[in-house]
Amino acid sequence: MKIDAVTIFPDYFSPLQLSLLGKAQEQGLVEFGIHDLRSFSTDNHNTVDDTPYGGGAGMVMLPEVWGKALDPLMTHETDLIILTPAGKRFDQPMAASLSTSQHLVFACGRYEGIDDRVRQHYEGKNYRVHEVSIGDYVLGGGEVASLVMIEAITRLIPGVLGNPESLAEESHNEEGYLEYPNFTKPSVWRDLEVPAILLSGNHGEIAKWRAAQAAERAKKNL
Ligand code: ADE
Repeated sequence: MKIDAVTIFPDYFSPLQLSLLGKAQEQGLVEFGIHDLRSFSTDNHNTVDDTPYGGGAGMVMLPEVWGKALDPLMTHETDLIILTPAGKRFDQPMAASLSTSQHLVFACGRYEGIDDRVRQHYEGKNYRVHEVSIGDYVLGGGEVASLVMIEAITRLIPGVLGNPESLAEESHNEEGYLEYPNFTKPSVWRDLEVPAILLSGNHGEIAKWRAAQAAERAKKNL
């Protein structure tokens, strides 16, 4: 999978070199391209934004600069993801769906967002465009949201996780999440014991116990 991100803060993406994502890149399972939006600006001040038509606080990102940055990246195999708190909520099924894409482009808006004609233009040309939010809160920009999405998506690409059983176990769980509590050695720590059922070796009973614990936790965290 090829993943491009367009941002005015390329340094935000340095964690892509670490851990799982860094390894996935070394193995050739995923390739990242980080593009500085300012290098597509058309004036000496490297301007990327201007005041909103209709008035109001804040600045809006210029469509001309975004068009110049995105045109060379877009193909009809591309899923263009525009990060905005007004977008569709990112979740595990969306991560699974995007993990089968050949090419993702993350457009990281800042300020009050990107001139809406950028979305309109690429949608009008029949490109796949998704406005996505990672949750009901407002971040300073789309960079951190992109990192969240990239991590959730790339770990679903076959070969990225060292132990593919982790994914199999997740998909067995109806919700796609591992929600039961986990324990490792020692069996007693600060007077707290690991639940005896987990030491029993009875895999059927363990699975039942975990399902019940997951259900209880899900209810508590609603
Ligand atoms: N940009 C600002 N807030 C955001 C959010 N919650 N999700 C995605 N992009 C954002």
